[in-house]
Amino acid sequence: MGIPFDKLTPPRWGGEVPERVDAPPLVLGPQCVIEPPVILSPMAAVTNPPFRKICREMGAGLVVTEMVSAQGLIHRAPKAMSLVDLQPDEAPVAVQIYGKDPEEMARGAKVAEELGAHAVDVNMGCPMRKVVSSGHGAALLLDPGRVREIFEAMSDAVDIPVTGKTRAGWEDTNVIEVAQAMQEGGAAALTIHGRTRSDMYDGHVDLAVISELVRSVDIKVIGNGDVCDWKSARRMFDITGCDGVMVARGALGNPWVFQEIAADMAALSVPPRPSLEEKRATILRHIELYVESFDARRMCLEIRKHLLWYFRGTPGEKILRRRLSGLKSIDDVIWAVDAAIEGNTGIEEVAAKSHPRGKNVGVMGA
Ligand SMILES: Cc1cc2nc3c(=O)[nH]c(=O)nc-3n(C[C@H](O)[C@H](O)[C@H](O)COP(=O)(O)O)c2cc1C
Repeated sequence: MGIPFDKLTPPRWGGEVPERVDAPPLVLGPQCVIEPPVILSPMAAVTNPPFRKICREMGAGLVVTEMVSAQGLIHRAPKAMSLVDLQPDEAPVAVQIYGKDPEEMARGAKVAEELGAHAVDVNMGCPMRKVVSSGHGAALLLDPGRVREIFEAMSDAVDIPVTGKTRAGWEDTNVIEVAQAMQEGGAAALTIHGRTRSDMYDGHVDLAVISELVRSVDIKVIGNGDVCDWKSARRMFDITGCDGVMVARGALGNPWVFQEIAADMAALSVPPRPSLEEKRATILRHIELYVESFDARRMCLEIRKHLLWYFRGTPGEKILRRRLSGLKSIDDVIWAVDAAIEGNTGIEEVAAKSHPRGKNVGVMGA
């Protein structure tokens, strides 16, 4: 996808903090009750089963796979199957599909339903040149007629809710026209990332356009863009009147964001930032989930970016970077994590828990 993972930084959003918002569960269907209405965004090469699971455990009301092609699903191509790989204990989970042909999208949605998805989501927001140049992703914003046909075909094909995720427009804002086409086609909900395709990730998300959309359609609207903590979640709900929020960059190295937003929405006190010990426990859980899903080689390769996000901006980050190149086993990964934690504390206690590289410490079974 050409996404510069190393350069991804969490969004920042300052300003006034509104009163707590009462946001009821978002009900899209009998099997798809999103409670709390706080969702892990689809993210290519990120929202794999281990990350989806850890975010569910932290309180996300729904998790979404990364985008997978309709054709890949139809042919049950090994790559598509491994991107989806739905696990019963992550429910509810939505599969995001990209494509442009209504019949193919319908067949892809049927396969996702057979695989156990609780909803299917249409990618109408990916801005990457490689994707839009073939008419997929955000390019669909240019063709509301096709959008309606896609939703009609998909809604006829499956019993689960069909949703779409889009941007405010291509260059100018035209999301309302697109949303009306989705609604006519039978969509159950729409997520809007309040930036246009040309904005990419620049500037701040446009809350006014989300708010206007909420007032213009009858289907549920999920607000997305720059939500990174309980305060920004409150602001998204309060200013736009949306029915749910979706979090992407704010969850990288920070699955606790869901716990925090969920607590605030339930009128509970927001838990403090995790201590280093809690952070270590969550990272070990993340590693454990990786081990359940992938072999050691793939785990060592894919978990690096997550580890860097967990330690981003801390003294341990440098230490971690030095150790990432030689990872070959679970013990190597834990050794790198403990070195980074030690770098953040200098506390003997944590050092005592670190493991000599290569020694089988059986932490995963603990
Ligand atoms: C690494 C990465 C991968 C992404 N992949 C997808 C994707 O597969 N499908 C999609 O609809 N959006 C994708 N997005 C966009 C996000 O879901 C989200 O709309 C965007 O990051 C704005 O939300 P945020 O401000 O919470 O990050 C991706 C974003 C990032 C950072």
